[in-house]
Amino acid sequence: MAGKTIVVANWKMNPATMREAKKLFDAERKTAEKSRGSSVVIAPPAIFLRELSSMYRGSKVAFAVQNAHFEAGGAHTGEISLVQAKDARAKYVIVGHAERRAEGETDDDARKKVAAALSLKMTPILCVGESSRTDEGEQYDVVREQLRLGLADVAASSLPRVLLVYEPLWTIGKATAMNPREMHQMAIFIRKCVVESHGEGGRSLKILYGGSVDEKNAAAMLREGDVLGFLVGRASVKADEFAKLLQAIETA
Ligand code: PGA
Repeated sequence: MAGKTIVVANWKMNPATMREAKKLFDAERKTAEKSRGSSVVIAPPAIFLRELSSMYRGSKVAFAVQNAHFEAGGAHTGEISLVQAKDARAKYVIVGHAERRAEGETDDDARKKVAAALSLKMTPILCVGESSRTDEGEQYDVVREQLRLGLADVAASSLPRVLLVYEPLWTIGKATAMNPREMHQMAIFIRKCVVESHGEGGRSLKILYGGSVDEKNAAAMLREGDVLGFLVGRASVKADEFAKLLQAIETA
């Protein structure tokens, strides 16, 4: 396998307690340490981040926040800033996840978050994806627009520091992932859009897939989907499933 597969564990609003979070983290850290083929990023709920990151001094797991505000401070009740996330040792931030877009996060917010993350030397994990598909190919228009706006403030020279996740809403939390061949087509389309907006560097954009990734579909997606890794929800909040997923990736 060329390079390591990037696996972003999006715990979403799980688990319920710090105690369970520590247990889950500890199990996943061990799995990550055993794995030769994966590079693991864990995105716990922000309230657990500092304690988890302070008990871990290794280099096999990196931390992400699932969301953060682009401003450094101010009157934003209920928010945390990227600066605070960085101070708690998050190196990555998920931006524009479909579940946050459904709560009102806009492409303009995504643009500001991506730019703010890069200026803090953090890695933005920008999520794009349509909510449903039409025979007319409306999904391509949606994705092109999300890319255009989300990456608008990214200099071509900074593109290698961005992770792009294609995660269509209709595959999140479902029984099966997307067909790898369709992912491949979408990856080609995404690169084409980014080459148009940012030049030739767009060809090497790092593209991940998200949506019902598990031990059964990961290997085929890696082989045929033209992706470098995954954003994983459910299979990342059960330690045994996460271990099986990394195992499946080893054999891809
Ligand atoms: P899922 O979630 O793996 O449970 O489908 C993925 C995500 O929303 O990040």
